[in-house]
Amino acid sequence: MSINTEVRSADAEGIARAAELLRQGELVALPTETVYGIAADARNGEAVSKIFVAKGRPQDNPLIVHVTGPEMLHGLVSEVPERAQLLMAAFCPGPLTIIMPRGPEVAAECCAGLDTVGIRMPSHPVARAVIEASGCAFAAPSANLSGKPSPTNAQDVFTDMDGRLPLILDGGECDWGVESTVVSVVGEKPTLFRPGHITLEDLERALGEEVEVSKAILEKLPEGAVVRSPGMKYKHYAPKADVTLLDGTFEQFKAYVDAHAAEDPSCLCFTGEAEKLGVPCVEYGREGDGADQAKHIFRSLRALDEQGDAVVYARCPQKDGLSMAVYNRLIRAAAFRVIKL
Ligand code: TXA
Ligand code: MG
Repeated sequence: MSINTEVRSADAEGIARAAELLRQGELVALPTETVYGIAADARNGEAVSKIFVAKGRPQDNPLIVHVTGPEMLHGLVSEVPERAQLLMAAFCPGPLTIIMPRGPEVAAECCAGLDTVGIRMPSHPVARAVIEASGCAFAAPSANLSGKPSPTNAQDVFTDMDGRLPLILDGGECDWGVESTVVSVVGEKPTLFRPGHITLEDLERALGEEVEVSKAILEKLPEGAVVRSPGMKYKHYAPKADVTLLDGTFEQFKAYVDAHAAEDPSCLCFTGEAEKLGVPCVEYGREGDGADQAKHIFRSLRALDEQGDAVVYARCPQKDGLSMAVYNRLIRAAAFRVIKL
């Protein structure tokens, strides 16, 4: 596969070109407030199947459908449950994906055989302008090769997607840096499938009830377990290095790294720690500041690859609030190797 990949600024002309390509059933990479996505017309099965080819994505992992607002939901969902209305009123547009009963117009290729569909209303002006100019609700996963860290700038998209799609719209750095929170309102209890910038506590406040946390978020599921959100079962966000998360204080971390000097390790650490560690480091955000960590985590994982690191020890973030999203991505990047110090 080799397509000529154009990178252009997300100005009026770039947006018009993106809209034209989408209407023709082609792929476009574009920025959202979370990460960059690869968009295709969600009603066009042939277009949607190109996404799976470009990413090397397993067919059983469903895609999220992006719209500007509730007025576009007709035909895409068969019903808007009351809980979805509460969540949309509280958080949309914004970094939230709501799993709802699927409508007849969504291409089957989006849903991997499920009778549900993930709906997201991005707040990013470029994503919204492309939907408006094309008239297309678009399906879009993150714009990385399957298994790699999600891209948060156009250059990282180009690294993965050069030759695989015709257009990348450059809209600068993404604001949040981790993908949207995914919550299901299908079934008896609302369930968090993927943590993101909108936290568990935010969801519970808006819904006025407890939200179940899918087990796959914070731990490795046993082989063969049934997952309700297929994306959770894959090794993910992974740099080439063997990453291990070390859960403890900075002093314990440093002692562990020193004791393993023979492995020639590098570290993924918090801001300001690199100079104290004495080995090659990438800093991924301030300790205790989930928003700062979320914004930089994927770029930092890619930086490890660029340095060519083979063995990486990573500082462990907290597991609650916004840090839950960072912890969730890091344990996948580490293939679930976590050592309690
Ligand atoms: O922030 C985001 O959500 C980005 C931007 C581009 O919008 N998109 C994104 O898409 O992260 P993707 O495909 O990389 O992740 C979608 C996640 C996967 O874990 C998938 O399994 C889950 O959402 N998902 C999608 N539809 C689902 C459904 N109907 N039921 C359960 N899980 C679903
Ligand atoms: Mg993804």
